[in-house]
Amino acid sequence: MAWEVGSWILMGIFIIIVGWIRFYKMKKIMIKTSSTATANIPRGSSGWPWIGETLHFIVSAYTTRPVTFMDKRKSLYGKVFKTHILGRAVIVSTDPEVNKVVLLNQDNIFIPYYPKSVIELLGKSSILQLNGTVHRRLHALIAGFFRSPHLKARITTHIEDSVKLTLSTWETKPTVYVQQETKKITFEVLVRVLMGLGPSEDLNFLKREYAEFIKGLICLPIKFPGTRLYKSLQAKERMLKMLRRIIEERKIGLQQKIDDKGMANDAVDILLGDIGDESNEIHQRLPLDFISDNIIEMMIPGEDSVPMVMTLAVKFLSDNPLALSRLVEENMDLKKHKARSCDDYSWNDYMSLPFTQNVINETLRMANIINAVWRKAQRDVEIKGYLIPKGWCVLASLSSVHMDEENYENPYQFHPWRWEKKGGNFNSNITFTPFGGGQRLCPGLELSRLEISIFLHHLVTTYIWVAKKDDIVNFPTVKMKQKLPITIKPIYPLR
Ligand code: HEM
Repeated sequence: MAWEVGSWILMGIFIIIVGWIRFYKMKKIMIKTSSTATANIPRGSSGWPWIGETLHFIVSAYTTRPVTFMDKRKSLYGKVFKTHILGRAVIVSTDPEVNKVVLLNQDNIFIPYYPKSVIELLGKSSILQLNGTVHRRLHALIAGFFRSPHLKARITTHIEDSVKLTLSTWETKPTVYVQQETKKITFEVLVRVLMGLGPSEDLNFLKREYAEFIKGLICLPIKFPGTRLYKSLQAKERMLKMLRRIIEERKIGLQQKIDDKGMANDAVDILLGDIGDESNEIHQRLPLDFISDNIIEMMIPGEDSVPMVMTLAVKFLSDNPLALSRLVEENMDLKKHKARSCDDYSWNDYMSLPFTQNVINETLRMANIINAVWRKAQRDVEIKGYLIPKGWCVLASLSSVHMDEENYENPYQFHPWRWEKKGGNFNSNITFTPFGGGQRLCPGLELSRLEISIFLHHLVTTYIWVAKKDDIVNFPTVKMKQKLPITIKPIYPLR
């Protein structure tokens, strides 16, 4: 007994010491909101007049090593440097500690800062652009819903159905384009969690209009009839019209649902049902237009990212037979176990396959789908001795940290086993931030990991494949040049 008490005390002392060391370390990199005499704008170059260093930035982004732009400047000026790209003075951080401060944004110094065409397409009330109380409310609602056990239980079956349906069509195809096929799976899942639509005419309509809408994401910010941006905004308007009809219909049944203590089935239910915080001034329902705008705008971060991670996982595994065979072994074991027990798969079954999770981590690290977050400083701020002046843009480069030898040995090698050593604590690691962090940590994090896990499980236990040669393009977004063509062969005995 005395021994037990003693060990608890020792443990307590240990926790206090570790906590104190962490606090002290964090304090050293904490921010100061007014510049001191010693703080300077980071070193760097503003490049040519007007275009700055944009050309080099874009040329690097097109290569197989898009972080070359950062690496070169890092070696000249250090991990935080200034540059001038895409028409803006920018401070680039490749330092995980500085990135952490920017992402945490504890004093609300930084606001999101996107290219003009993105700002136009998003609209002012989008979660991606909002700040302060309304942003916190919206983020908490969506993140809470995506994490809820109710959604997890329901969505697992939907994802399985969607994956199996898509995979079943592959058998008759001489060549399968993975990038196209994975989009079919994830679009349906996304639309279901956001607005509850299953296969229907509305879903097909949404697919067509969304494809038109998203073409304008990176384009010239010129808006009059005939321009790309104009066409995209028109497509958005058509989607909004459809969604407003759905929301109006939903509103009618809502009170009954609340009275019956019914569970929210999708993000529309969550936003419609919320009455705000009763203890303060935001005790009111969200306006209907605000809800419809946000549901459409939330498709932007969700739509392309998950299928690209799935596609790149197939690419990396095709190039790494050893990792693939370990993955097959682990997933075959689960499949056999499930076949014997006749149980349905649960969220936990998929998420507790350790090697599969390591493959997903490693793919997320190397794929760098969202390679950086862009922010603007609302006042002068000093981080780790660097001055970021008011109005300057900060680019927290997530990919530079993921591809830095200081953080990952042989960073360009796909090596899922490295995560065994790291202990898999991927959510609290400042050198691994594919989903961002802090106030804007991706609410779709767990859902994305589940979708990818289910896809990999059914893929590797249903087919073997041979991938044709293809390359990754990193600009303007991550893509496969040829959409990753593969030929497949079914594994018959287990089907
Ligand atoms: C592998 C897939 C995904 C990756 C790598 C990813 C990555 C990210 C990152 C890095 C951010 C932070 C952006 C910032 O700080 O400015 C973010 C935000 C966000 N993501 Fe994801 N995401 C993924 C999937 C999804 C999915 C499936 C959804 C579902 C709708 C989603 C919804 C969002 C939303 C709404 C935000 C904005 C959060 C806010 O600003 O409060 N994401 N995502």
